[in-house]
Amino acid sequence: MKKDTQYVHIGTRTDPATGAICPPIYPATTYRHPEFGKSTGYDYTRTGNPTRAIAEQVMADLEEGDRAFVLSSGMAAVALVFSLFAPGDRIVLSDDLYGGTWRLLERVFSRFGLRSEYVDLTAEDSWAPRLAGAAAVFVETPTNPLLKVVDLPRLCSRAKEHGALVIVDNTFMTPYWQKPLTLGADIVVHSATKYLGGHNDVLAGVVVCRGPELADGLTLLHHSVGAVLGPQECWLLLRGIKTLPLRLARQQENAYAVARWLQGHPGVSQVYYPGLEGHPGYEVHRRQASGAGGMISFRVRDVRDVRRLLIDGQVVLFAESLGGLETLITHPASQTHADVDPGLRRRIGITDDLLRLSVGVEDVEDIIDDLERRLTNPPGSR
Ligand SMILES: Cc1ncc(COP(=O)(O)O)c(C=O)c1O
Repeated sequence: MKKDTQYVHIGTRTDPATGAICPPIYPATTYRHPEFGKSTGYDYTRTGNPTRAIAEQVMADLEEGDRAFVLSSGMAAVALVFSLFAPGDRIVLSDDLYGGTWRLLERVFSRFGLRSEYVDLTAEDSWAPRLAGAAAVFVETPTNPLLKVVDLPRLCSRAKEHGALVIVDNTFMTPYWQKPLTLGADIVVHSATKYLGGHNDVLAGVVVCRGPELADGLTLLHHSVGAVLGPQECWLLLRGIKTLPLRLARQQENAYAVARWLQGHPGVSQVYYPGLEGHPGYEVHRRQASGAGGMISFRVRDVRDVRRLLIDGQVVLFAESLGGLETLITHPASQTHADVDPGLRRRIGITDDLLRLSVGVEDVEDIIDDLERRLTNPPGSR
């Protein structure tokens, strides 16, 4: 099957008893044993649930991994992976990454002795010396919010020389555009709340891994810790994934048009979008991903525009998530990255003039008109 067909046919053959075209929802928390010492394969829903099993198989197939785990949020997925490590282990991370991941490490896992180090993963001379002795590297590419691109095959091959695991947060790309496990990574995580769910109506996370050792370690943690996704949400997630190719195509087309338009606007001083030829990671991104995605960040010249852009939108809504049908605008410094150490934020450029757009599927003219109405044209510029 071609990629787009594969997505549409998700779950269509999961109920042979009735031939139902969409997957069944099993709300049961417990399962009757047919005989002493025998199981149907399902005993108790925290350990295994038939609807969740479908979602997990779908995600393992799409990411080309050996095993997938579906969880109650993206942060639960990240926490599951961090729980693989032991006190004293050191993780190297992108200095630009989702603020919640930073908070989880600095405020929670640091208390259990897990050490972290934030470096520019786009510059080999900054990350290569940190690999010796590291237990893992945690990467977003493109990063949130500055959309920096990390060379995944290069990083994975160097990390392997040092025995460090590579964990990729693939939320921005999804397996439709980028498959890190095929590029040498060991584990992929997702906030499935975003593009995979796609409708801003389900909070979910996914972990996909390669190899039996990681699969066994994560299986133990998944049902021991218990942050599993409920069957109704698994069903919503599966329904969302079926239309992922359609949504992504439109979001990307719109994002490219909005990025080009922002680039030409005199009130905008910088645009970050990996689909623009001038983006420093353009070539690397093209080699490892088949699409540039729907996320754009940009800086305004007049900081007063920030407030206007955020609060006054008719089409572009001021709300914190991403990857849904509606175009959303976020202010990383005060929202998604508010908890990140202010020094680190300043050093990497998450400043007050920065805004992040998750471009939706609306008519692109409406998106641009809505932004245009609220952006200042500096005197004499037009
Ligand atoms: C890149 C990335 N990873 C992880 C998360 C956390 O996911 P969730 O909000 O589903 O817990 C987010 C949330 O915004 C994110 O943007």
